[in-house]
Amino acid sequence: SVFRNADEASRAVALEIAHLIRYKQAAGQHVVLGLATGSSPKKVYGELIRLHREEGLSFRNVISFNLDEYYPMKPDAIQSYHRFMREQLFDHIDIQPENYHLPDGTLPLEDVRAFCEQYEQKIEALGGLDFQLLGIGRNGHIGFNEPGSHISSRTRLMTLDAVTRQDAGGDFGGIAKVPRRAITLGVRAIMNARRVVLIAWGEHKADIVKSAIEGPMTELVPASYLQTHQNAKFVVDEACASEL
Ligand code: GLP
Repeated sequence: SVFRNADEASRAVALEIAHLIRYKQAAGQHVVLGLATGSSPKKVYGELIRLHREEGLSFRNVISFNLDEYYPMKPDAIQSYHRFMREQLFDHIDIQPENYHLPDGTLPLEDVRAFCEQYEQKIEALGGLDFQLLGIGRNGHIGFNEPGSHISSRTRLMTLDAVTRQDAGGDFGGIAKVPRRAITLGVRAIMNARRVVLIAWGEHKADIVKSAIEGPMTELVPASYLQTHQNAKFVVDEACASEL
């Protein structure tokens, strides 16, 4: 779907999430959301907070799993995705703290593999992701599944691409300070979500969005895997749709 601007698009995405939460609430069920960080989802979260405050949307039945976290990363560091999620969403809604999950950037290296397995098992034990929100990197990554990631890749420690580290350089005060690795939910778990919505705004994403949607399905553009997903949608603004 193409919207005039990111505000209108974000409102539509937030409404879809809100409907899902309310639908599950009415059925007395929990809802399992896959959440994303980066600049793109900020307005979606802002709108969810507004719906909570002004329209009584409750998140008490929500269980969430974030896509990724830098490694190593302390949860209270400025660039931490834990901190991002608290500031952009969790601190402003009634989600139960025990119900949200993010990859742990503080683990000793030897514990990361087991953590990743458990992260996926937790999602599966809850019946899988009902909804996965995604951004897209300029190199086509989803989560931190960089180019070269297999369609059935597992949740794992990923070495970050040069483009990714360059784009993150601003947040870290220089590319040299950007962590070299991150823990990311694997492509397999993303593809297993029953609904996937990828959001992208702005002209700087137009080329990669075109490749992901119209190009061949290739591991060089992990977002192109969504072409084979049964229920995936790209939500973009007009600037980002300019190449389509
Ligand atoms: C980071 C995140 C991705 C996100 C990407 C795009 O690399 N790990 O999940 O999609 O940034 O970020 P932005 O939305 O700021 O363009």
